[in-house]
Formats: sequence, C-alpha cells, structure tokens
Amino acid sequence: MDQIKIIGGSPLHGVVEIGGAKNAALPILAASLLGGGECIIDHVPQVRDLITMAKLLELLGVNVQTEGGRVMLEASHVQSIEAPYDLVKTMRASILALGPLLTRLGEAKVSLPGGCAIGTRPVNLHLKGLAMMGAEVQVDHGYIHAKARRLKGARIDLDFPTVTGTENLIMAACLAEGTTSLHHVAREPEIADLCAFLTKRGAKILGAGTDTITIEGVSELHGAKHEVMPDRVEAGTFVMAGAITGGDITVKGCVTDHLGNVFTKIQEMGVELTENSDGNGVRVRCSAPLKAVEVKTLPYPGFPTDLQAQMMALMSVAEGTSILTETIFEGRFLHVPELHRMGASIEIDGPHAVVKGTASLTGAEVMASDLRASAGLVLAGLAAEGETTVSRVYHLDRGYERLEEKFGTLGAQVQRVREVV
Ligand code: EPU
Repeated sequence: MDQIKIIGGSPLHGVVEIGGAKNAALPILAASLLGGGECIIDHVPQVRDLITMAKLLELLGVNVQTEGGRVMLEASHVQSIEAPYDLVKTMRASILALGPLLTRLGEAKVSLPGGCAIGTRPVNLHLKGLAMMGAEVQVDHGYIHAKARRLKGARIDLDFPTVTGTENLIMAACLAEGTTSLHHVAREPEIADLCAFLTKRGAKILGAGTDTITIEGVSELHGAKHEVMPDRVEAGTFVMAGAITGGDITVKGCVTDHLGNVFTKIQEMGVELTENSDGNGVRVRCSAPLKAVEVKTLPYPGFPTDLQAQMMALMSVAEGTSILTETIFEGRFLHVPELHRMGASIEIDGPHAVVKGTASLTGAEVMASDLRASAGLVLAGLAAEGETTVSRVYHLDRGYERLEEKFGTLGAQVQRVREVV
C-alpha cells in the first residue's frame, strides 16, 4: 500500500491548476445510461472513483473509452440491470445507476452500499422518490430491486436535500411520462452541472441550481458533448493549504462563486484572498498566525462537509478556540484521533468539535479513514514540524488527482512511497 510522506513547515508558493469535479463527473457519467448516441465528457478527473464508475458502466453494457481527461460513452446496448455488491461496496456513488437504469429499462437491481466510515448514509429518500413516481421498490438480500413499466411524473418533496438522491430523481424524471416537480432539493453546483449535460442531451429541465426543479419527461435522450465543472473541494483544499503553511499561492481554474462561504471563513481567520476579476482563480496570502473561527457544515451554499477535515487542520494551529459543527454526517470525525497524534487539542461533544489552537503541530505517523479526512491530515502534515506519514492513501486516490505532484509544484516536500511491511 502507498503512503504519503510530508516534511512540513515550508510555506507554499506558486500556482496550482484545479481539475474537474469528481462529484459532478460521477452523475454525468452515470447519465450516459439514459440513452444511445455518443456522449463525450471532458475534464474528467483521473481518480479512482471515476475508474470505478467506468467499470460499472462497462459491466452494464456501456461502451466506455478513456483518453486522458476525456471519456467517450455509448449506451445504445445496455444489457444488464444489475450493479453488484463488489463494485458498490468500493464506491457508494454506484447508487447513481439506479434512477437511469430504472427509467430507461424499466428495472434496476443495485446493491445497498452498506457501512461507511463517515456515517450510516441511508438511501431511503432515493427510494421514496422513485416509489412516488410509480416504481415498485423492494429491498431483498442486500439489493434494491426497483421496477416500473414507465415512471410517471409526480410532485416530490424531499425531507432532506440529499445530493445523489436529487441527482437520481432528476435522471429518473427525464424519461418519465409527464412532469415531475422536485421540491427542497439539493442546490450543489454539481447538480446544476448534471442538469446542463442532461439538457444538452435533450432533457427538459427548469430550475437547475435552485431548490425546486421541474422536469418534463421526454421519450429519449441523444448524445452530447460536455465539460465537467471545476472541483470546488479540490480548490478549497489548496486554498487552505496556502493558508495553513503561511504561503502565497494562486489557485487557478476554479469557480470562486462556488466557494463563497468557505472564503468568508478563511478570511475571518486572517487570510488575504484576492479573487480574479473573471471569477476563475484566487490568490491566497497568509503572513500572520491564523485566528480561531466558528464553522458549521451545511448543504450548499453553506460550508461543505467535504472541507470539514481540512478546516479542522487549520483550526488546530489557529490562535484561540474554534468550534466546528458537523451537521451532515454524524460519523465524520475519524480524523480527530489522528490529529491528536500530531499534537492537536480537539474535544468532541456530539456534533461539535472544540479545537484549541496550538502554536505548532508535530509530524507523526497517521492513518487516513476517508477521502476528505486524508486531505485534512495532509494539510496538518504540511504545517507540522518534521515528518508526517499518512497511510491508507487509497482513500485520497479516490478523489484527488496527482495530489503530491501538485503540492510538489508549490514547493511542498510531499512524496508517495511504498509502505514497508
Ligand atoms: N440521507 C438520508 N437518506 C437518503 C439520503 C441521504 O438520510 O436517502 C442523509 C445522509 O445520511 C446524510 C445526509 O442525508 O446524513 C446527506 O447525504 P447526501 O445524500 O446529500 O450525500 P451523498 O449524496 O451520499 C454527496 C457527495 C459526498 C458529500 C455529500 C454531502 C457524491 C458522489 N457524494 O454524497 O461527497 O459529502 O453529498 O455534500 O456527490 C466526498 O466527495 O468525499 C463525499 C463524501
């Protein structure tokens, strides 16, 4: 297994380019299942989760060709309705095959994802919505089995704005009979990106990016070309890396508007952020110690849970006591014991983490528990004195593209090494 070795303590300098968004590319690739015709998707990040999604689509009968960041998909002959446990257990986003398979083929069998390091993560809202569109849904032997001759448009009010749940229902509604109106849905920019792609394929969608989306079903979708939006979580991670090391870096190729709440909190910590006038980059400068701040994770446009672990690393070295409240995933504090190993002072009280900043962290051997927790540990390592080794970096590889290389161009001493056993 690979490890990441970091020699911390040097401020980062230079320019880093942001890649395509994993969480937009995943539903967009899954949406290829909705019809024949060639789909050409550009700016797809070359990360493990996207490789898994391509594997799943191939298994279902989609012809998938990859050339660097371009993925070409042709789904005229989808033969299978089943997303098996072996693949789903390695990537929960496989649930995104459910809506498209059901609406296109009238039947879908998708393994329940099972446990997850960051919380229980049920999919009841996906299933409830599909049932409201007329699907017969059963959960049996660990599999979701859904059937419907043709889904019917319905009014669906979500109890919580689930991201992949919203995406599944939008995709299902594209080929349903009549009009579907989805209320209290997630407003994440990745959903608007999916809707942009579906619209290019001939779907009729109104309200993308708002909490009410209306979809008029059509009988078929055609091929289309699309470029995936920039990854706001990757951008936020680098902005925070610039801040925690007291560096001066420019994060290019992001959409600064997608990071409003994150930027506000980082500025409150005393970091100077200068956004490009065209909204696609930001310069990050930090010359004084960070200041404590209060942060609560919320659905978009609130502070993203996917940047919570990284923010906790910053709070660990900020002057004063910070409070971080996690409201999206109940179990997303597994990085805390690892940060303790690096000298951080963090107490967990239910959904709150009380973080007393220390003047400096010390390098240590730590273990990644999920994708974003790994990123938090890398940031802590960049700020710490001495050497930090992060093991189980396969978590990191699920969602960050060429991370150590990108940090290398910013002058960080970050290296991938093979674990010696
Ligand atoms: N929830 C339910 N029932 C459902 C669906 C969700 O109770 O049917 C609850 C979840 O248990 C959780 C909350 O709603 O407490 C939010 O979950 P959501 O469904 O919005 O999350 P998701 O769609 O499974 C996506 C991202 C995650 C990101 C979350 C929140 C993708 C592929 N995944 O997950 O990304 O953290 O939204 O923004 O888009 C990551 O990239 O590291 C990652 C975990």
